[in-house]
Parts: sequence; structure tokens; C-alpha cells
Amino acid sequence: MSTVVETDVLIVGSGPAGASAALALSTYGVPNIVVTRYASLADTPRAHITNQRTMEVLRDLGVEQEVVAQATPQHLMGNTTFCTSLAGEELGRVRSWGNDPLVQAEHELASPTRMCDMPQHLMEPVLVNAAVARGTRLRFETEYLSHTQDADGVTATVRDRLRGDTYEIRAKYLIGADGGRSRVAEHAGLPMGGQMGGAGSVNIVFEADLTRYTAHRPSTLYWVLAPGATVGGIGAGLVRCVRPWTEWLIVWGYDVDAGAPDLTTEYAEEIVRRLVGDDDIPVTVKSSSAWTVNEMYAETYASGRVFCAGDAVHRHPPSNGLGSNTSIQDAYNLAWKLKLVLDGVAAPKLLDSYTAERAPVGRQIVTRANQSIRETAPVFEALDGLSPQTPEQLWANIAARKDTTEAAAKQRAELREAIAFKAYEFNAHGVDLNQRYASGAIVPDGTPDPGFARDPELYHQPSSRPGARLPHAWITSGSRTLSTLDTVGRGRFTLLTGIGGEDWVRAAEAQEVEIATVVIGPGQEYEDPYGDWARLSEISDAGALLVRPDGFVAFRHASAAPDAGELLADALRTILGHA
Ligand code: FDA
Repeated sequence: MSTVVETDVLIVGSGPAGASAALALSTYGVPNIVVTRYASLADTPRAHITNQRTMEVLRDLGVEQEVVAQATPQHLMGNTTFCTSLAGEELGRVRSWGNDPLVQAEHELASPTRMCDMPQHLMEPVLVNAAVARGTRLRFETEYLSHTQDADGVTATVRDRLRGDTYEIRAKYLIGADGGRSRVAEHAGLPMGGQMGGAGSVNIVFEADLTRYTAHRPSTLYWVLAPGATVGGIGAGLVRCVRPWTEWLIVWGYDVDAGAPDLTTEYAEEIVRRLVGDDDIPVTVKSSSAWTVNEMYAETYASGRVFCAGDAVHRHPPSNGLGSNTSIQDAYNLAWKLKLVLDGVAAPKLLDSYTAERAPVGRQIVTRANQSIRETAPVFEALDGLSPQTPEQLWANIAARKDTTEAAAKQRAELREAIAFKAYEFNAHGVDLNQRYASGAIVPDGTPDPGFARDPELYHQPSSRPGARLPHAWITSGSRTLSTLDTVGRGRFTLLTGIGGEDWVRAAEAQEVEIATVVIGPGQEYEDPYGDWARLSEISDAGALLVRPDGFVAFRHASAAPDAGELLADALRTILGHA
């Protein structure tokens, strides 16, 4: 073992967390190396729901359009259907993922981006290609084995799986983005709370033209109540669209105490036939794999110079579609902090804010995803479908809802309510967008926390209070219409102010750290013709918001301030860890 390769940041893993960390770091000009165990990127669809916040991150990193071009668009995602099989009886639908007209309006008001369905095997190449084009050095078939760290950096030992030899990579920082069985997190001693392996599940990827059963109710998800569907798994059988309407992924549970089934092609085909319900449709099974439902999250995401992101620190079922989204957002939160610390602009203390900001999000999404599984049970309880003694009993219970009796009317009402309640899984706009950070990299402005006027899981509530993501409003610059979010990001701080905010602009320009300035008002570089910004900004025209490179408000001052220079310098000292 002789070779020592050097870099600023070593990233273990090329999944959504690792790939987006590499992309952000390379975009910011930070030298980085990605090592990844296998010879290819993800070869199965895996995560797919891509929420608005992630799309905003991808927009800032310059790959939004590529993702939009490849993804299934939002309008084909939204008829989440409950049925006895695709060819069988339909039990009800939820207009999901922003396709309910009222929720759609909320999506349009909240962000310049649209949710979409981007399967992981398509997402990873977009992220990795862009990262490599911007400077990331990528090593396939290279396995992380161990690391040591000292005051100046981290030395990782990796194995080249092609040649079989090991070598060392010396980095100033190490990012463990090595997924749900993270060795980096284990070696860094990051304690995980919660429990592992609560229920068993099988993923079956297959090709079949199911247009006849799906095109008239286009959706990403079709939930199937069939005999055995509530054993293990995610609460029901699931047929998930990978590519409309010919590529699919089935999720089917198994009894974890009995062990994973033998994943033969015959087994997979039998499950596919059961959930599709039409034996005449040709089916080609591509792959099957077993996994378990986890409910685990780390309380601490870092140890010294080692930082973990993604499934390495939060492990949960796919409900709510939060896995890849949260992983990408972790990386985006971390990357600019590493950049500023590596440049000597910020003190290493800034990096403490990574755990402070992202660990509560991780805990929240793990809990939410598992809660969503539990909330599927009432759909089946309404049909007496949870523990029928025989399949015949199950079908009889389902058929009973068509009776003219009062009991049947009650059953229908309960079913409608239980299905509508699944909005917490399929329309949890607040879970996607209401993140509020409290850390050393946020300067409170002394205003009391207003809380949320509506259910914070279902509804997004914009706020410019420090710790919230900058509210989106359409503004103009000449003939161009752009989002307020388009004025921030690109690895630098941004100060937003309006007419009368000259002191803030001067103060921003006088700081050592790069701060872009955005003045919004009549006759200024940016205008607010709809008045949206004035309604959302929560500051007066002459007040100021200092927005971090990740789009979160770090400092807010409601009005003009003759001592703007001092106030801003103080705030930056705190944010950058120098206080
Ligand atoms: P991810 O697991 O994607 O990536 C880890 C990376 O680390 C990989 O590139 C791996 O090769 C690499 N690696 C691991 N150990 C290494 C080592 N020692 N050395 C070098 N490299 C190493 N989610 C969802 O929402 N819907 C779904 O249907 C599914 N389905 C699904 C199926 C399967 C089979 C898996 C494994 C996962 C899912 N998921 C999912 C979960 C989703 O894929 C997950 O939340 C995200 O991929 C997490 O992204 P990360 O980048 O954190 O880890």
C-alpha cells in the first residue's frame, strides 16, 4: 500500500447524497473525489418522488431542466388508486403529489419548480455527469474500508476492487454517503436511534404494458388490497410506475419472522400476476430484491472531520417519497459550509450547524414515513380487510360496501375518509417545504415564533424569519420574470432589500465574504409588479434579509438601520462561526 491520493473532500458513495454533494462541491470549485463500491450507478429505480425543495436545489445546481426532461411530469403522478388489483375493482383514489386543484395552487404559490417523478437510476447519472464535468474525480469499483482522522484531515483506506489492492486517500474532510449500511457512520461512531428491520418487503422490477389499466387514471402509485397484502411490507401491495405505462416496480411484504422468500422468477411473476390481475398481459421480470422497513435516525451527523448524509443517517420506508429528497438536501446544506471553511472564510464551528439543522429534519421524516405506513391500515379496516380468515371473506367484505344497508353506507364513508386521510403521505406539502433551522448559522431576530396557522405537515407556510427558506415570489428584471429564489444560491450569500435600503447594500459590499445584493422596487434592478414580494417579505422596503447560499434566511432586519454595517458584520461573525 504505497499510493496516497490527496483531495479536499472525499465522498464515499454515488447515490443521491454522494452524487449531489459532489455536484455542489464541484460547482463551488472545491476539489473532491467520489469512491463508489460498484461498477455502475444505481441499476434499479429505487427512490423516485422528487419534491419541490429538491427541484429548487437542482435548479440552483443547474440540472433542473435535465431532470424535467427525463422525469415523469407531475400531472401523470397524481391519481393514487386503491384497488383489489389493477384489473380488479377500484376502491377509491387520492389526487396526490400536488394534483388536487387546491394543493396544486399551493404548489404554484410556493415554488418556481414542479414536483416530478425521477427514478433513481435516471437521477444519479444526471447528478454524477454534471459533477464530473465540473471537476469531481469519480472512482467506480472502489470500496471504502476504514478511516483515521487527525487535526488536519482524514486518511481513508480504500480497495480497488478491479485490481484487488488497497490505497489511501488523504482528504481534509470525509463525507459518508454510503447508504443504509453505512460503514463510515459506524466507524465515525454516530449513534443511531430507533429500530431496524421492523417489516419485510420485496421489490420486483418488471416490464409490462399496463396502459389499459392505468392511462385513464395516471398515477405513480397503485395500492392493492389482495389476500396477504397486509403482511409485513408497507401496509399494502404497491404497483409503482417507473415509466408510463410499461416499466413498473412492485413492493410486496413478507413475514420478517419467517425470513425473506426465495426470490425466483416464478415467485416474482406470481406476485406480479396477483397484483396486476390480468394473466393475458405479457410480463418480463427484470430483478427482485428484499429489504426491511427501518425506523432509524442518527442524533449526530458528524464526528470531527467526518460528516454523514442521506440513508447513512436516516433510514425509513419509501412512504412520502422522502429518501432521495432528504439525502440531496443534506448534501446541499453541507456543501457550502465545507466550501467556506476550506476557503478560510468561515471557522470550522460553522460545520456544527450541519447536525443542528439536518438531524431534526432526519428524525421528522423517518417518523413521518413510518407513520404513513400505519395510516394505511384504516383503509383496510374500513373494509374489514385486515384479518379476513379466507380470501373469500376478504372479497365478501369488499363487496359488502355496495349494499343498500346502513352498515354499507357507514363502510363507504369510512373508506372515503381513510383514503382521504392518506393526504399525509401523498400531499404532505408542509413536510416537503416547512423546514425551519435553528443553529449557530442562523441569527434570531427576536420575533416570537408565529407557529403554523394550518397543519404544518400538510400545508406550506412561507416565512422570512431567520431559519426559514426564502419565500418564493415572482419578480421581474427588465423583460425577465424570475423567482426570488433565482436571485440567491450559486454558493454565495445574498442580501435582499428595497427602496431605502442603501445602507444595507453598502454594508453588504463592504464585507469580506461575497454577498450579492438584490434591490427590489420600482425603478430598481428587480421589480415586484404583482406585489407578491411585498406581501411575503415580512420586512419593510428598507429592511434587509441575508440569505445563505442554500436559500435559507440567516439574518433579518425589519427596517432601515443607520448602523447596517455593524449589524451585518456582527451577524456574519456569528453565522460564519467567528463569534
Ligand atoms: P444510497 O444507498 O443511494 O447510496 C449509497 C452509495 O454508497 C452507493 O453508491 C453505494 O454503492 C455506495 N457504497 C456503500 N458502501 C460503500 C463502501 N463501503 N465503499 C464505497 N461505496 C459504498 N426509496 C424510495 O423512496 N422508494 C423506493 O422504492 C425505494 N426503493 C429502494 C430499493 C432499493 C433496492 C434500495 C437500496 C433503496 C430504495 N429506496 C427507495 C431508498 C432510496 O434509494 C434511498 O433513500 C436513497 O438512495 C438514499 O440515498 P443515499 O445516497 O443516502 O444512499
